[in-house]
Amino acid sequence: MSEQHVSQRPDRNLALELVRVTEAAALAAARMVGRGDKEGADQAAVDAMRQMLDSVSMDGVVVIGEGEKDQAPMLYNGERIGDGSPPEVDVAVDPLEGTRLTALGMPSAIAVIALGERGTMFDPGPCVYMEKIAGGPEIADLLDLDRPLPETLALVADRKRIDIRDVMVVMLDRERHHAAMAEVREAGARVRLILDGDVSAALLAVSENSPVDLLWGIGGTPEGVISAAAIKCIGGELLGRLWPRDDAEREAAIDAGYDLGKVLTCDDLVAGEDVFFAATGVTDGDVLQGVRYQGDRGATTESLSMRSRSGTVRRVSARHDRAKLRALTGVRYG
Ligand code: FBP
Repeated sequence: MSEQHVSQRPDRNLALELVRVTEAAALAAARMVGRGDKEGADQAAVDAMRQMLDSVSMDGVVVIGEGEKDQAPMLYNGERIGDGSPPEVDVAVDPLEGTRLTALGMPSAIAVIALGERGTMFDPGPCVYMEKIAGGPEIADLLDLDRPLPETLALVADRKRIDIRDVMVVMLDRERHHAAMAEVREAGARVRLILDGDVSAALLAVSENSPVDLLWGIGGTPEGVISAAAIKCIGGELLGRLWPRDDAEREAAIDAGYDLGKVLTCDDLVAGEDVFFAATGVTDGDVLQGVRYQGDRGATTESLSMRSRSGTVRRVSARHDRAKLRALTGVRYG
């Protein structure tokens, strides 16, 4: 059967509205950079993001949020957000991805949000961690969580026509990764260790002309869903598999109906066809510049705004007047 092209009139791109949401979170969190206060930085981002979300025209339910309602007064899982008008969407938020990075003034902290059609986002339930492997479109078909990592690195080098010594794998600096780190080094490839922030790392791994070829490691399941949303917009692939920390978590996951052996693709993690994603840099990173203050009232931000259906990836540079924003919204923007 011949391919049919059904033309549709362009409609509203919610990713453009979402940029204002992540900008607000980043501007609020940036004042806390390097101040040694993870919780304070997160709270500032949550408050600013929550307030700005009321202005977005959508009927949203938080699927990936700050946790259960009893510990998270705002942006808790299940909370209704937006102004209540269509479309009905699932929402994944991480107002501050990299709380420790922010507290320590280290690179690549971001504020991030993703939307998909209602009922399309994977709910992590009791599953805190997942194994992940991610890479750009050129190597997407080579990703495999079962094949030994050195073999995958050799295939990546071959596909990219580079020496294996040039291949760079980004992974969280965690004890649980020590064996894999040794394997990568033994294979002759290179490792970039990060303290936190595997959403930024996933974005970097799939970006064009990136210094990083592959993301590998065990990180947060919510971050896996958010990364999958980004990759559905930008291209590439992420494979994930739930990774219970102990028997209690394993049992809780099985009792809740999760299949622990299943390899989840981006389409399993975010099943919708119309995914919106926005992220704003808090601290400087490879993917996004962080917030910069200018004069006594200015600030600049850099953001990504992307939509899977159109495939448009926008990089948005903004200049803000903090005094005017504060007068308008009552929020202290840094
Ligand atoms: P926070 O910003 O919530 O502190 O999380 C940062 C992060 O590094 C994620 O990017 C990553 O997926 C997860 O924590 C890893 O978890 P852990 O620190 O427990 O290994």
